[in-house]
Amino acid sequence: MKLYAHAYLLTTLLSSTLFTAICTAAQSPTSTSTSTSTSTSTSTSTSTSTSDSGQLSVEYTDDKAFQAAILSVTNTYRKQHNATALKWNQSLADYAEKWSEGCKFEHSGGPSGENLASGHPNASASVIAWGHERVDYDFDKGEFSLETGHFTALVWATTTTVGCSRTPCNDRDGGGAPGVYVVCEYFPPGNVLGQFIDNVRKAVPVAQQVGGASAQGVPEFDEDVKGGKEGAAGRVRVGWVGVCVGVGVGVVLQGVFG
Ligand SMILES: *[C@@H]1O[C@H](CO)[C@@H](O)[C@H](O)[C@H]1NC(C)=O
Ligand SMILES: *[C@@H]1O[C@H](CO)[C@@H](O)[C@H](O)[C@H]1NC(C)=O
Ligand SMILES: *[C@@H]1O[C@H](CO)[C@@H](O)[C@H](O)[C@H]1NC(C)=O
Repeated sequence: MKLYAHAYLLTTLLSSTLFTAICTAAQSPTSTSTSTSTSTSTSTSTSTSTSDSGQLSVEYTDDKAFQAAILSVTNTYRKQHNATALKWNQSLADYAEKWSEGCKFEHSGGPSGENLASGHPNASASVIAWGHERVDYDFDKGEFSLETGHFTALVWATTTTVGCSRTPCNDRDGGGAPGVYVVCEYFPPGNVLGQFIDNVRKAVPVAQQVGGASAQGVPEFDEDVKGGKEGAAGRVRVGWVGVCVGVGVGVVLQGVFG
């Protein structure tokens, strides 16, 4: 039902001229995925480690390790899909930090692209959960969908910078963010309607991939597809989507579900 509401909103906005960015967000029950028993038990143990940060992955506790993991995994997917590596953008990271600290598992409504994840065992696994959505993406059609919006934002060719933060929320204040809440912002934002074919590229054969070393734990596209749709480690929260309309660039539709 909510899907239709989104489609309607988008159609309305398409015909308008807008000078400021407008973003709305709504829960999308249709994109809630089932987590495997492994990921459930992982998230449970993550959520229950309240004050003892010693139990958290170093990718969560150490700023440098966090940044390195985000960039390494993100840029591995980008290399595989023929997009240049993203650089860290501190102003995006600062923005993400303010939002993650609120522990609300929903779209912030800001001007950049945004991906959310919560309850994953480490930063790498959070990004891998987004990247794994590519098994459901139709590269020939090149359309936005609730199920693949994180992936398309991740590898969007004209995006150049990323900044992320994380907060051990452990379901604080009923905000719906289990375990550690990861927020990533992308600039310039991807998921621009009408530009999917150019910006979300098919997998490049390993021998032709250009870029740095691959992150451990990121499969090649073919392996990911063979691994099955439930292959992503700990898809603990998926279920929010945001719609954004950008300034003068046409319509931006941001996949912003956790
Ligand atoms: C990568 O993308 C560029 C621009 O679309 C294209 O010209 C090039 O052939 C692509 N490379 C591979 C290996 O697919
Ligand atoms: C970093 O992100 C901000 C948006 O928060 C943007 O204005 C700025 O141009 C970005 N920096 C780079 C180097 O792209
Ligand atoms: C992150 O978590 C996954 C899933 O538990 C695990 O396989 C992987 O080794 C971890 N990666 C790091 C760098 O800790």
